[in-house]
Amino acid sequence: MKLIDCDNYPSDTDKELAYAELECPTLAEIQQEVLSWLRQNTNLLESADDKSYWHTIQGTDIVRACPKLVEYMKSIKSPIREIAIGVLTQSMQTGLHLHMDSCSLQTKINFPVLNTEQVYTEWYDIPIDVLNQLGIRDDAKTTDKVYNLYKIHDTATDYDRVARYNMHTKPIVFNSWIPHRVMPETTAQYPRVILSVMPVKELTHLLQK
Ligand SMILES: [Fe+2]
Repeated sequence: MKLIDCDNYPSDTDKELAYAELECPTLAEIQQEVLSWLRQNTNLLESADDKSYWHTIQGTDIVRACPKLVEYMKSIKSPIREIAIGVLTQSMQTGLHLHMDSCSLQTKINFPVLNTEQVYTEWYDIPIDVLNQLGIRDDAKTTDKVYNLYKIHDTATDYDRVARYNMHTKPIVFNSWIPHRVMPETTAQYPRVILSVMPVKELTHLLQK
């Protein structure tokens, strides 16, 4: 019995990878496009106190300003549904707390943009009985419920770590149906910025083991 009844949720880590690297020869150009758009249209790069992490970009502004990004998404045959910017600020040095995204979307493509050197994403295998004991909370991004994994952020290493990855040189297909957290080293630079593209169709086939 699962508190959140949704097919294949959470992801079966025996069958699916936590992430898959993608080749992207134009990453440097995409990073420049995104950074200039952010500088000209937002204050996300200056807001050191912000703890909200995710910033959904409304409308298609950023898409118009980033032709290399659009070209790349076309090349992997994955139309863009939505774009968000993830900003780890100076005030989030303990990291982005352990969570699992809601069952409405499993896969997205994350691109490293700025200061990604000393920051690691970690995925953990948390047994379903533990998830059920943690209970559920409202998801910050959707109207869905999610497991309340914040409660075990500080004790996550008691569980099996599926992967620990420094996303720095390549974009990845990200499996958000495995509990994960974002952990900066003490040497990390801020703001650490990533771009997240939600695809029109799930990319689960790229995560098969
Ligand atoms: Fe997430």
